[in-house]
Amino acid sequence: METVVSGIRSTGKLHLGNYYGAVQNFVKMQHEYNCFFFIADLHSLTTHPTPADLHQNVKQVLVEYLAAGIDPEKATIYIQSEVPEVTELYLYLNMNSYLGELERSASFKDKIRAQPENVNAGLLTYPVLMAADILMHRATKVPVGKDQEQHLEMARTFGNRFNRLYQHEYFPEPYAFSFSENLVKIPGLDGKGKMGKSEGEGNAVFLSDSPDVIRKKVKSARTDSLPTITSSGEEMQKEIEKVRIAFKIKSPAVQSLFDLMKVVSNSQTLDYFEYQYKNGTIRYGDFKKQLAEDIIIATAPIRERIEDIAKNESYLRQVSRFGAVKARESAQKTLKDVREIIGFKRF
Ligand code: TYM
Repeated sequence: METVVSGIRSTGKLHLGNYYGAVQNFVKMQHEYNCFFFIADLHSLTTHPTPADLHQNVKQVLVEYLAAGIDPEKATIYIQSEVPEVTELYLYLNMNSYLGELERSASFKDKIRAQPENVNAGLLTYPVLMAADILMHRATKVPVGKDQEQHLEMARTFGNRFNRLYQHEYFPEPYAFSFSENLVKIPGLDGKGKMGKSEGEGNAVFLSDSPDVIRKKVKSARTDSLPTITSSGEEMQKEIEKVRIAFKIKSPAVQSLFDLMKVVSNSQTLDYFEYQYKNGTIRYGDFKKQLAEDIIIATAPIRERIEDIAKNESYLRQVSRFGAVKARESAQKTLKDVREIIGFKRF
């Protein structure tokens, strides 16, 4: 049976991007593969969380994994920091990863821009730690969203390099996986890019958001592409909108909302609004109302379970302890082999 590994950083509540890009696939894959799903708390240290926030965020992801339907009897669910073998493998892989390639990583460049005051070595070697997560269980399939594709390519590079260096076909090649044809990229509500935890208030819809909060967020999502500060700006906006409709080109903000509708609504609903759009008769108020209701329905089963699971501390303890034992068993097997391959021998 093929092995699957994936994780989510513990940096807050999970949003629709995390769900449709990753967790939804985790839930499906647990029935067919040997699955390891973890909470990437070591990765979250790059932004220096307080001890209290760190713990709370780990709990949040664990609760939401379970609420979304990951079954600890089927998949191994664990907290990354409870499997110290990963940091050892990370060290070995670091000997074999180079400054140039790490600096070229798109996520590193994004982070330098986002937090120029905190460009630490952990940030630079983030893809190496991620490779260690994956290679540690010798996984071949990694369910992730589109934004992680380059990291997967780096994981293959590091694994292959290790194999070549020691002339040993040890690590298989891991590939990003999605049940859909392409890797998923869920846009944010602001129409400016992907949905993310740190992209600003109102950009993300969280799985734990109440129906009212969801309605409010979707209602205030933009449908135009230019700010309409002046009345002449408004006129221009209307002209642009006419041209767009004539050529059937949606503004990025409208396209984002349609992309969201594609994942949460049924095809008749989507077709209906596509038709309205093409006809130039779409009313964005109705469109957004429908979108909000469909998001509420899609997330209801998860939302309803979050609170109950969060209260059950002893269950969370039991799940994470059991997961850590199983994950360490797999990790220790790999580490034993890796140490032997590298040439560590006891006197
Ligand atoms: P993270 O925590 O940023 O995101 C977790 C998962 O959610 C997906 N995702 C999205 N998918 C579609 N649209 C979006 N807007 C969107 N936003 C987030 C991500 O692609 C990811 O699958 N480096 C990883 C965590 C990690 C990991 C690993 C993943 C550490 N080690 C090993 C896989 C295997 C990260 O920061 O994901």
